[in-house]
Amino acid sequence: MTAKKLFIKTYGCQMNVYDSERMAEAMGGEGYEVTDRPDDADMILLNTCHIREKAAEKVYSELGRYKGLKAARPDLKIGVAGCVAQAEGEEIMKRQPMVDLVVGPQSYHRLPELTARTHNGAKAIDTDFPEEDKFAHLKGRSKAKRAPAAFLTVQEGCDKFCAFCVVPYTRGAEVSRPADRVVAEARDLVERGVREITLLGQNVNAYHGHEGGLAGLIRALDKIDGLARIRYTTSHPNDMDEALIAAHGDCEKLMPYLHLPVQAGSDRVLKRMNRQHTAESYLRLIERLRAVRPDLHMSGDFIVGFPEETEEDFRDTLSLIEAVEYGSAFSFKYSERPGTPAAERPQVPEDEKDDRLQRLQALLTKQQRALQDAMVGREVQVLFEKPGRLPGQMVGKSEYLHAVHVESSDLAAGDLARIRIASSGPNSLKGVGLGA
Ligand code: SAH
Ligand code: SF4
Ligand code: F3S
Repeated sequence: MTAKKLFIKTYGCQMNVYDSERMAEAMGGEGYEVTDRPDDADMILLNTCHIREKAAEKVYSELGRYKGLKAARPDLKIGVAGCVAQAEGEEIMKRQPMVDLVVGPQSYHRLPELTARTHNGAKAIDTDFPEEDKFAHLKGRSKAKRAPAAFLTVQEGCDKFCAFCVVPYTRGAEVSRPADRVVAEARDLVERGVREITLLGQNVNAYHGHEGGLAGLIRALDKIDGLARIRYTTSHPNDMDEALIAAHGDCEKLMPYLHLPVQAGSDRVLKRMNRQHTAESYLRLIERLRAVRPDLHMSGDFIVGFPEETEEDFRDTLSLIEAVEYGSAFSFKYSERPGTPAAERPQVPEDEKDDRLQRLQALLTKQQRALQDAMVGREVQVLFEKPGRLPGQMVGKSEYLHAVHVESSDLAAGDLARIRIASSGPNSLKGVGLGA
């Protein structure tokens, strides 16, 4: 029997990237092979994101593109997975009747069964938060060789209820996977060539599947031979406990890069956002982290134009950024999300949001570039991931997550090498190998 073809398009955060891999594996057991072309697929699956309005609307424009394909081949199955599926459920089918199945992020282990139900034009939908653990129900990952850097979801959901955010509604309450399962999955990844694992969770440092919390899990993973690097994302400032701060100081495999969103620098705004921390407490936290790991590169997320944010509030955000010096950052205009508390409040005009975003990004880009330029002349350790665009080039990531290009004929994907940084370009560094 020839394999059926599955095309998956992934939007949103790294957790969706991980989920898409697992859905591909689940469907692999049903005779589906992944293709990178929707045109010859037997099934198209969009793994969607609901975080901002634009992200959610993209799904409908993408579905629109498949109308012709579906008309020509009515047996083509079209599915919507992920956070839009969770938030909008059967509304999706009302807006786009060609959609055959809708599956929420907590139910994707049921995808094969749901797909089987879509015979002869029937629709299938599952947006439950089931009692059973979806990870436990998934078949083991295939034994195929893997790229050197992998994601591993250890925690899902969020109990924080920031006033702007849909995640607690789309992903549900905070749940941690048991440490022994995580360690077993990590070992399996390492056997298949993985050298760097990024632990994922919407609120990953709230992890409680190990008695020592996330720090305990990191120390358990640290013992795995062959695993060279550990990272984790995304964290909430209030869950950075002593043990995790200490791990940044003495756990060699834990990389000196931390994504720790603060969202805003004004206490008034932070309070309205229900962040449960102040700008000052965030800055003190970074001081403590840098006391144990002085070269720690910070990354963050920012929202501009949150309801009722004034110019003065916004300047507080710029001051906080000046104080931290970020190595990288993501910034967004506030987007009203139906059902969240902030959506009901007086909104900042769009042109104000645009103006603030531009000013914020100018500052962040300047900082990012300065930290990157400061790497020139320094020695870093690079994990090589793939060939670069130019012949004879390899590209990988430094400890600080900078992309580093090196011209070399004897480097391969999966190699870790000491590299001297020679120059800094707009988005990456160039380096030369220093030998073994
Ligand atoms: N769990 C993570 C972030 C999840 S969402 C955390 O707490 O840090 C990723 C980022 O999207 C958030 O950090 C925030 O900056 C942004 N975001 C979330 N909701 C948003 C909204 N309604 N409008 C604009 N940006 C938003
Ligand atoms: Fe959303 Fe993160 Fe806040 Fe949770 S902690 S509600 S995921 S922004
Ligand atoms: Fe988007 Fe859902 Fe991730 S809303 S950011 S895909 S948790």
